[in-house]
Amino acid sequence: MAVLVTGGAGYIGSHTCVELLNAGVDVVIVDNFYNCKKSSIERIKALVTKDFKWYECDIRDREGMDAIFKKENIDSVIHFAGLKAVGESVEKPLEYFDNNVNGTLVLLDVMRNNGCKKIVFSSSATVYGMDNVSPLTEDMKVGGVTNPYGRTKFMIEEIMRDLYVSDNEWSICLLRYFNPIGAHKSGTMGEDPNGIPNNLMPYITQVAIGKREFLNVWGDDYDTHDGSGVRDYIHVVDLALGHVKAVEKVSGTTGLYIYNLGTGKGYSVLDVVKAFEKASGAKVPYKIGPRRAGDIATCYSDPSKALNELGWKAERDIEEMCEDSWRWQSQNPNGYPD
Ligand code: NAD
Ligand code: UD1
Repeated sequence: MAVLVTGGAGYIGSHTCVELLNAGVDVVIVDNFYNCKKSSIERIKALVTKDFKWYECDIRDREGMDAIFKKENIDSVIHFAGLKAVGESVEKPLEYFDNNVNGTLVLLDVMRNNGCKKIVFSSSATVYGMDNVSPLTEDMKVGGVTNPYGRTKFMIEEIMRDLYVSDNEWSICLLRYFNPIGAHKSGTMGEDPNGIPNNLMPYITQVAIGKREFLNVWGDDYDTHDGSGVRDYIHVVDLALGHVKAVEKVSGTTGLYIYNLGTGKGYSVLDVVKAFEKASGAKVPYKIGPRRAGDIATCYSDPSKALNELGWKAERDIEEMCEDSWRWQSQNPNGYPD
């Protein structure tokens, strides 16, 4: 019995596939390669001994997805496939709703038609909106999201809740990620953003390698210990291991479960710059800029529910996150080869 991993060639998906395969799980990857290179499949292969299948297919391609379910013996799904750039989602809301929400509807329908009712979904801390006070717990009110990307995550959570109410044979796990950074220890897999990175760590590593002149720190007047925004950065390998636990959970039970995947610790932008400079030995020049629209001062998790119910906790600290991000960037200055 295999786990189908949608978006399995992307940043978090590829790291998760390595951990699944190394744990002995059968894996089938589906990706349309819209936001990743095919060489990431080769990089996964180089880090595992177990063989796996992969398909180039869009999750909105109902016939294509159905054929994969008919051919493979799929027991459960980890659903990473989606578009994720907040700014782009404001420019292209229809594309985001189509890809993320419609894509998920097609996937769930194909799963149901093939008798597969176990799914782990990549949600985000963004569903907690602007008003909750950190540490964020899973029982807090969600919604109030400020951009189409975030709304797709919120809507998909609601769709999955309704689905479970309609049919409690489903086993659904909503994982709310905080801020994934870092890379595989080998330096052969990591985050490979297109164009100008929106997120902090890829921007820092591109400054450090000389691709960008300086980092813009978006605001130094927040109510935080140094005025810059505070977030809960989590190593992508810890996140990947959280998925191994989550897929075990959905395999063994039915129900709808929600877990934060974070460290429970908050670091400011300036803390991350300092930690990165220490870990890499590289300089990261920065300038203080205005606040970025839609940002909040502080966002970090209470990760205790995942510890209590999944037996999972993040083990890698900010230093290791920075070292591994830097190893990936410095060994692959232009990301994955074409
Ligand atoms: P990513 O872009 O690296 O990976 C997503 C993968 O899905 C890509 O390989 C892309 O080609 C594929 N894909 C997109 N649309 C598809 C479709 N219609 N059919 C088939 N494949 C498709 O992103 P990531 O950082 O690995 O994120 C994975 C998931 O986690 C996404 O759903 C994202 O929204 C969510 N998430 C990411 C973060 C983060 O900071 N990276 C935070 C919270 C949640
Ligand atoms: C952003 C998204 C969120 C998404 C998450 C992971 C917004 C408003 N939110 O969250 O929906 O789930 O990414 O993909 O875009 N920063 C700088 N300079 C930069 C980049 C970032 O100072 O060049 C700061 C930000 O202001 C923030 C922190 O670094 O305080 C982290 O930013 P980022 O990596 O974009 O993550 P989030 O804002 O948490």
